[in-house]
Amino acid sequence: MPPVAMITGTGHAVPERILDNKYFESIVDTSDEWIVTRTGIRERHVVEPGTGLSALAVPAARQAMEKAGVGPLDIELIIICTVSGDLKFPSTAIYVQRELGATNAAAFDVSATCAGYIYGLHLAKIFIESGNYKTILVIGGEILSSMTNYKDRSTCVLFGDGAGANIIQKGNGERGILATYVGSDGRLADLLYCWGSGSSHLWADGTTITQDYFLKMRGNEVFRHAVRIMGSACEKVLEIAGISQDKIDLFIAHQANIRIVKAMASRLNLPSEKVYINIERFGNTSAASVPIALNEALETGVLKPGQLCLMCSFGGGLTWGSAVVRI
Ligand code: ACO
Repeated sequence: MPPVAMITGTGHAVPERILDNKYFESIVDTSDEWIVTRTGIRERHVVEPGTGLSALAVPAARQAMEKAGVGPLDIELIIICTVSGDLKFPSTAIYVQRELGATNAAAFDVSATCAGYIYGLHLAKIFIESGNYKTILVIGGEILSSMTNYKDRSTCVLFGDGAGANIIQKGNGERGILATYVGSDGRLADLLYCWGSGSSHLWADGTTITQDYFLKMRGNEVFRHAVRIMGSACEKVLEIAGISQDKIDLFIAHQANIRIVKAMASRLNLPSEKVYINIERFGNTSAASVPIALNEALETGVLKPGQLCLMCSFGGGLTWGSAVVRI
């Protein structure tokens, strides 16, 4: 029987600094009432400007390594899923490797926006099951505050910073990552993007940096696609795993909007006690959102070893991914 990949350790880290809805009332034309009813968000953790992602990724990784009983030299591959890494290059995975002293590892980043972590999990599962690697560190992490336009009320209230880490190793028996599924649709790229310092929109010496360089989103159009696409991604991965949704113990969806999560749960016929929600405390942390929730659910006992967890995410690209894990 081929080896099954398994999540053997989890961890997460968020910055200490908290921006609550009152803060946004003071900088843009918004209200706590609008933000809570339209998004479910009450506060989000945001780094001091200029803090790189590796500052959160490294402590998240150390927690996951400790729980898995893995030392830095055991790690053979580091995959960081992010669109807001420390520098344009080298990858953030390189800096995490350096900080951890994981000198036996190969290291690279994956760019798949909010769906990044599921893409990383998908790759790690394939690499473990092919026998190429025994121990892989996967981190979903973002400093989206670095690309947020704090003058745009339609986006600035949504995002928070954070990182969630997993150690992936060969499974034992029935526990493991049973199925993963990823997809994308480039025809919808213009719904959500960030010029940043991309090569087609140079952030060169002498350039005036305008609001165009920051994250832009046509939120209500993204919303419409989110429920449809994540719903079918969940159905697809359950089909691949050969599991019906009534067997799922916990559903962790990307925490982009509480209304999207509730609509997803309703489409999948999942009762509210099986749906994990922490968006009120973290906002949308993009690629970090699902692994942060997974770590919290395990640490608080909401999700117990041996139980079945359905995860899904969705973001700019558009990109999406889903996974069924017997944790
Ligand atoms: N405060 C007050 N009013 C606001 C705010 C705000 N912060 N933001 C927008 N509004 C206003 C709009 O200007 C608009 O006013 P108008 O009717 O006078 O024109 C009104 O509220 C409604 O705007 P909508 O955009 O239609 O509001 P909606 O209910 O769709 O909520 C939101 C907006 C929260 C962005 C929602 O569309 C959403 O969550 N979309 C999905 C986001 C997502 O999933 N993104 C993918 C992942 S992110 C990534 O990949 C990086």
